[in-house]
Amino acid sequence: MRNAITDQTGFMVVTTPGNPSGHLTPMSELKSFIESIPPRIIVLIDEAYVDFAGNEADRVGAAPLIKDHPNVIVTRTFSKIFGMAGMRVGYAIAQPDVIKTINAHKANTLTMLSTHAASAALEDHEHTRRSRDLVINGKQYFYDQFKAMGVEYLPSESSFVMVNTKADSDEIVNKLRDEYNVLVGNARARWGIQGWLRVTAGLPEEN
Ligand SMILES: Cc1ncc(COP(=O)(O)O)c(C=O)c1O
Repeated sequence: MRNAITDQTGFMVVTTPGNPSGHLTPMSELKSFIESIPPRIIVLIDEAYVDFAGNEADRVGAAPLIKDHPNVIVTRTFSKIFGMAGMRVGYAIAQPDVIKTINAHKANTLTMLSTHAASAALEDHEHTRRSRDLVINGKQYFYDQFKAMGVEYLPSESSFVMVNTKADSDEIVNKLRDEYNVLVGNARARWGIQGWLRVTAGLPEEN
């Protein structure tokens, strides 16, 4: 990303863990990246999936960088670990002036229902722990099965795993949907990655 910066670059997005890779950018790497780029470039760090990271220290995320870096914005969503995608709640953390600018351009407001649901979710640590454990165990099951089948996959710190079918992914996606009622991400259609599927961990019986 550093090599991609030009005089025209004003905004960058780092998604960690990445979608669809599931790759988590270590905080030390992110910190030195931010310190090495011109401070006029706004860096938005999208932590939609960070709560699924196996290592507790990684789940702290990039918010501590904000104090020294007015160009950093960290975003999180209630759509993933809290399973509240329909509520349309998320938040951004940044220095007060940056938040003021964001608020000046805000296009929508939260409903009372979403606001109360989100604050209840934040306090429900037991639910968060169960969601995370479910996903971590589900991914481990996928890894074990893929290994046993000799299928290539990318270990992931997110809620999904990329797997290489080495076949026509459209055909497999359609078959899984039509014959098994299972929906998986078609990495060819969504990201142009031939042969790969993005499989999200669900309940044990669904996995
Ligand atoms: C990387 C990433 N960031 C953010 C989001 C945002 O989700 P929402 O718009 O539901 O808050 C998603 C949803 O799929 C995502 O994959």
